[in-house]
Amino acid sequence: MRHEIISPTEATTYRAGELIADLLAPGDVVSLSGDLGAGKTCLVKGVSAGLGVIENVTSPTFNIMLEHHGRLELFHFDLYRLERAEQLEDIDFYGTTEAGGVSFIEWGERFPEALPEDHLSVDILIGDDDSRLIVLSPSGPRASALAEDWSAAVLSDVGA
Ligand SMILES: Nc1ncnc2c1ncn2[C@@H]1O[C@H](COP(=O)(O)OP(=O)(O)O)[C@@H](O)[C@H]1O
Ligand SMILES: [Mg+2]
Repeated sequence: MRHEIISPTEATTYRAGELIADLLAPGDVVSLSGDLGAGKTCLVKGVSAGLGVIENVTSPTFNIMLEHHGRLELFHFDLYRLERAEQLEDIDFYGTTEAGGVSFIEWGERFPEALPEDHLSVDILIGDDDSRLIVLSPSGPRASALAEDWSAAVLSDVGA
């Protein structure tokens, strides 16, 4: 089932990231789509804070993949600059996403066949003012549970 999260500000997008962090399990894969500036990196910064990562998290646009160590290993990809699916092997995309950490993949929808069967697609749409509509489309049972728990956590979060 599809779920939607409305995020009025940068802070609430970051907070949504913190809230999904509590729900993540080893092997989870989240693909993030949305225009440049939609808030994909902002969301992953929240995830990273929620996982207890202490170093500063920057956009992996130029590195393609950055790894952070928290409660779980966080693999943060940005596939914007990748031209061909074969390049995914050069960056060990498959080995990394199966390594037992959690993977957040900006522009993951550019290579849909590379994503595992059960993954959560998150599309961030820019609305009026600063608001964002975050649409969750799970592709399997694990991602469905994650989407459901995440949207419920956002709704019941007093800090949001
Ligand atoms: N509701 C919102 N959620 C997330 N970011 C927002 C929001 N409103 C404004 N912004 C701004 O949008 C930009 C998002 O940037 P970033 O997370 O790097 O986007 P992306 O990784 O999708 O290109 C930031 O400058 C942030 O301050
Ligand atoms: Mg980004």
